[in-house]
Amino acid sequence: MVIMVLVYRLVIASNKDEVIARVKAGGETMPAFEGTLTEEEINDVAEHI
Ligand code: HEM
Repeated sequence: MVIMVLVYRLVIASNKDEVIARVKAGGETMPAFEGTLTEEEINDVAEHI
């Protein structure tokens, strides 16, 4: 059970980092939002997703 919780936390944490990276850098067609959105706003998007 403890291991399941730890694995779950790890997955959530890495997804959040990926979302933050994606919003900052953009993608193929997606614009980058670093500079447009504050750190707090980017963090809020990552928390929301
Ligand atoms: C502030 C939040 C976000 C905004 C305003 C945003 C905006 C956009 C826009 C305008 C496009 C282009 C759409 C088109 O070509 O018609 C796009 C594409 C895309 N976005 Fe986002 N996005 C946001 C967050 C994210 C997040 C969190 C992810 C994934 C972690 C993501 C993944 C993608 C992907 C995979 C595409 C398809 C094309 C590409 O790779 O650039 N977006 N987004």
